[in-house]
Amino acid sequence: MIADLAAQDHPDGPASSTAQAESVAGLLQPVVADLIVLVLYAKNAHWNVSGPGFRSAHLALDELVVITSSAADSVAERLRALGVGVDGTPQAVTTRMATVSPVAHPTGTTVPVMLSWVADLIGIVTTRLRAAAGRVGQTDAPTGDLLNAITLDLEKQKWLLSSES
Ligand SMILES: [Fe+2]
Repeated sequence: MIADLAAQDHPDGPASSTAQAESVAGLLQPVVADLIVLVLYAKNAHWNVSGPGFRSAHLALDELVVITSSAADSVAERLRALGVGVDGTPQAVTTRMATVSPVAHPTGTTVPVMLSWVADLIGIVTTRLRAAAGRVGQTDAPTGDLLNAITLDLEKQKWLLSSES
C-alpha cells in the first residue's frame, strides 16, 4: 500500500521533480510508520507504567508521545509537499511494527523497566532516522534537515528517559 500511495501524483505537488520526490518518498514513508509505531508504544507505556516514580515517568512518556506525533505529522506533510501520498494507515503501521520492535514488550511495568524499554525503541527509530537523513540529504537537503532535527529531538528524549530509569 505504501508503494501504491507513493506512486500517486497529486495535483498540488511540484510536477517538475516527480522522480526525485518519489525517490525521497520511498525513504520517508517508512519513517512515518516508524514514528507512528513509537507513538503507540509510548502511549501504551504512559498508561501502564506503575510504581515509584510513576508521575514523572507518566508525564515524560506523554511528552514523548506529543513530540513524536508532531514529528510524524511533519514528515507526512513533507511527503505531501513533495507531491506524493502518505500511508499512515493501520495496515502500513502494523507491517512496520514487527520490524521496529524486535524486542518483546516487557512483562513488568515498573518505571525502570518501561523507560528502559521505550528508550531502546527510540534508539531503533533514531538509528533508522540517521540512515534515512543521510540518504535523503544527498538529493534533498531541506528534507534531510527535517529528519536530522527529529533525530536530535528523539535522542534528547532517549537521554531523558534513560536518566530516569
Ligand atoms: Fe494521559
